[in-house]
Amino acid sequence: MTNSLKETIEAVRKSFLAALDSFPSDPHEIDALKSSYFGRKGELATLYAQMSSIAPEDRPNAGKAINTLKEECSRLFEEQEKKYITLDSSQADQLDYTLPGEVQRLGSRHPISKTLQEVKDIFTSVGFHIAYGPEIDDDYHNFTALNFPEHHPARDMQDTFFVEKDVVLRTHTSNVQIHLMENSEPPLRYIVPGRVYRNEAISFKSYCLFHQVEALVVDKNISFGDLKGTLEYFVKRVFGSSVTMRFRPSFFPFTEPSAEVDIWDEKKGQWLEILGCGMVDPAVFENVGYDPKVWHGYAFGLGIERIAMLKYGISDIRLFFQNDKRFLDQF
Ligand code: PHE
Repeated sequence: MTNSLKETIEAVRKSFLAALDSFPSDPHEIDALKSSYFGRKGELATLYAQMSSIAPEDRPNAGKAINTLKEECSRLFEEQEKKYITLDSSQADQLDYTLPGEVQRLGSRHPISKTLQEVKDIFTSVGFHIAYGPEIDDDYHNFTALNFPEHHPARDMQDTFFVEKDVVLRTHTSNVQIHLMENSEPPLRYIVPGRVYRNEAISFKSYCLFHQVEALVVDKNISFGDLKGTLEYFVKRVFGSSVTMRFRPSFFPFTEPSAEVDIWDEKKGQWLEILGCGMVDPAVFENVGYDPKVWHGYAFGLGIERIAMLKYGISDIRLFFQNDKRFLDQF
């Protein structure tokens, strides 16, 4: 065998061993390295090609030397390759290792749940208990016991979803005021979160379903001042102490006097109503068998969607119910 072929074989061995020392981990680079030695135009193929240019008597030895080198290189290469590729090759071929990994995305709380939780936390921190009541209720608890006159417009088909005659989807959480007072003795201090339903034209500001948190406090010597103080405290905790709010005289059959609370929406430059409230009407106490001369109370009903809209700057109530991930992902 000629010296120059021997040297070339030695040079290939050395460069191969050096390449093994910095063996790549990327499958594409592993493939590239493999074909640069073992491929059709690789180093070993080039060595075999040189056989034709040497003397015929030298060829057997030269062939042996190249074969030995090839076996050695193949064995070493496979050992290295095994460390990096554990998948079987048919599967490995189909994988694109350059694709980004799968991101495990955490879900987020719905803005209504978040707002509800915040409201519950605020009231429980100042001594309110939480109660729940039925979403399907009879006319008596939703209207009559709350002092709604027989022909009050709220009882109209236009506002109320009837399940059957005298059975309704509650139009407010105030029905639970009656259940609470029927089932327990005063004093009471409850909030009642829940869904309510109204048969209204759907628009950016009203939906057929929404959430309220009712509050009912009954005790001796409860005044409108207690109600006002509680609501001011609540509003400041939700919106911050620089919030602008107002009590606006209003009317509800089950409270007297009654008011609504508006919050100034800085962005829109307008007032937004967030709740109705008032002192429990003596007629309601009589309906549940409480003596209105002994017991006084206040009640209010907060609109959770309204509070969430103000808090998060949302301008369309329907967004809460569409389950659009692009919207929900922001919370
Ligand atoms: N139930 C009333 C409504 O849905 C709100 C309210 C609750 C008003 C309690 C006064 C007292 O509009």
